[in-house]
Amino acid sequence: MDPKRFLVTAALPYANGPVHIGHLAGCYLPADIYVRYLRAQKKDVKFICGSDEHGVPITIRAMKEHCTPKDVVDKYHALIKDSFEKMNISFDIFSRTSNATHFECAQDFFKKLYAKGCFEEKTSEQYFDEEKQVFLADRYIVGTCPICSNENAYGDQCEKCGSTLSPDQLIQPRSALSNAIPVKKETTHWYFPLNQYEAFLKEWIVDGKKQTWKSNVYGQCKSWIDSGLQPRAMTRDSNWGIPVPLPNAEGKVLYVWFDAPIGYISATKELTNDWKDYWCDESSKLVHFIGKDNIVFHCIIFPSMLKAHGDFILPDNVPANEFLNIEGEKVSTSRNWAVWVHEYVKDFPDQEDVLRYVLCANAPETKDNDFTWKDFQDRTNNELVATFGNFVNRAFVLMHKLCNGKVPPLHKELLDEADHNLMTDIQKTKETVSGLLENYKFRDALFEVIDLSRKGNKYLQDKAPWILAKETNTQENKQALIDNSLHICLQLCANLAIYIQPFLPATAKKMCHMMKVVDKMLDWENGGSLDLLKVNYALRAPELLFRKIEDEEIMSQIEKLKTNLISSTPTTTQKVETTTTAKERIQFDDFAKIDLRIGTILSAEKVEKADKLLKLSVALGEETRTIVSGIAQHFNPEEIVQKQVIVVANLAPRKMRGIESEGMILMTENEEGKLVFVSPNTLVPSGKTVN
Ligand code: MF3
Ligand code: ZN
Repeated sequence: MDPKRFLVTAALPYANGPVHIGHLAGCYLPADIYVRYLRAQKKDVKFICGSDEHGVPITIRAMKEHCTPKDVVDKYHALIKDSFEKMNISFDIFSRTSNATHFECAQDFFKKLYAKGCFEEKTSEQYFDEEKQVFLADRYIVGTCPICSNENAYGDQCEKCGSTLSPDQLIQPRSALSNAIPVKKETTHWYFPLNQYEAFLKEWIVDGKKQTWKSNVYGQCKSWIDSGLQPRAMTRDSNWGIPVPLPNAEGKVLYVWFDAPIGYISATKELTNDWKDYWCDESSKLVHFIGKDNIVFHCIIFPSMLKAHGDFILPDNVPANEFLNIEGEKVSTSRNWAVWVHEYVKDFPDQEDVLRYVLCANAPETKDNDFTWKDFQDRTNNELVATFGNFVNRAFVLMHKLCNGKVPPLHKELLDEADHNLMTDIQKTKETVSGLLENYKFRDALFEVIDLSRKGNKYLQDKAPWILAKETNTQENKQALIDNSLHICLQLCANLAIYIQPFLPATAKKMCHMMKVVDKMLDWENGGSLDLLKVNYALRAPELLFRKIEDEEIMSQIEKLKTNLISSTPTTTQKVETTTTAKERIQFDDFAKIDLRIGTILSAEKVEKADKLLKLSVALGEETRTIVSGIAQHFNPEEIVQKQVIVVANLAPRKMRGIESEGMILMTENEEGKLVFVSPNTLVPSGKTVN
């Protein structure tokens, strides 16, 4: 039976940092594509998200940034929300778990389970900081790693060697808050007896229809269930979170993984008075989009909570993606190895569809996958610019040239096999793409659409109406043949707009503008129609749908990744020297005499018989300078080509080894003492002044 309505959620991101492209590829983009596809079919759908503002990650960030947890969540909630908006992720609501509706909703949920006797109260010993008078989460205990001797390992993990630890394993444990030696102290918490839900979970997931879930998801669930479930504490000792709504529970808050998924419910409540239709009616279909690190919470713990509560439906599916690596390495937010969405949208304005494309084409659907800037460039230039965009552009240009800017008529009697084949492909694509999207196979669905445009290109190439037009032995039906090929190409353009819309909404919009049709044409039911653009209808001039990504752009991105990488966790002693002044004070006028400019290294070569020198040719706007630099022992000539540097442009020329050097390049040393260029952190036109 078809669901009456859809409730689609995307994992609530922690508001402890910005979102990176791995987050997008992992769950927000597939969820958005799915929702846009449903909306195009006029399905009743609500798309829910918000920021996850409780838990230890937030308090840790507050400690690092020397501010309050509230400051942290306010800052990142706004940043994350904005990043999603700019990427056209079309949530119906992007709420936050610090708001009042959520507090009430989560507390009510807890109270209901409590009243039903669903919790077990247990007392255990936990680490306590006597100086600060607080219990310490494992993350708040630091000490020496028993495996690699890193002195700053956390109570749950050593970030240096990657080992999973428990606080008891740390040598000389200390509190991250006060450096005091933690002591053990008794504390009482409310446990949710997951073990009692094993039978339910087994029936629901293993014996149920959930084998149709993605194999990574089903596999993880099965192995959790098979290895036996344990009661889990649903409360914590903390002053940041939702207070446990019981008397005598001072200093206790709900465990973040108890409150956060309830955030889906409270955000729906905030969105619509009809929220119960979505949450409490079996004819609604609930789908949770998540990343793989969230599987157990969404497939085991939250469903058991929902089951215990009794009023709510269970998810129909939990499509989880694997992780997206960057340039062959795992994303690490602490080392700043990531491509941040808020930076992408700044560096590539109006290019959100291009990123959506690459992330979907490369989505880690079945295994971890890799994002590289080179692949970003290749896919954009080959698939979007040279295939999809090129086809649409050619069809429009030719229509303007050969058919007076209007949709030409179709002469049915003259249709040949190639025409029929392409028309069939246009129609078949609808079903194929639908089937794939409904089964959460977003990459394959996207490839079908691109493939259809590829077929259009081939068709146009074979038909070559521009050659037909030039032929002098005027065939009597020459114009009719030209008309047919372009008529079909234009109907294909209209269909491409419909099919690409869930993936690349801004592109589809642009196409509607060119075709002078309203967005309503994009309704999915129109897909496969060969009559979308009416004969004789005048269309606009084409605008380019995509632009090429240049080498310099991706090189500067790679450079940015590398320069922003934090190589080791900085210790406080390393910071000191930065403010020392070594030279005598100067007046502004002295400084103003120096002409500093951005240069781009065009080529570099070794200077014969001088093992320290490189001869560089550096672009400074209009002119190109020769600069001799003593850096040959630090860089290979190849690796510095295209680098942007700062040049002292008005330094008197100086001959070195017979070569006149016309400037100097600014350098510094990194943490490890390696010579590095002082470069702008984004691509800047060469010749620009630095001041
Ligand atoms: N904040 C979690 C994370 O980023 C996800 C929470 S999903 C929810 O991994 F269901 F709890 F909301
Ligand atoms: Zn270690």
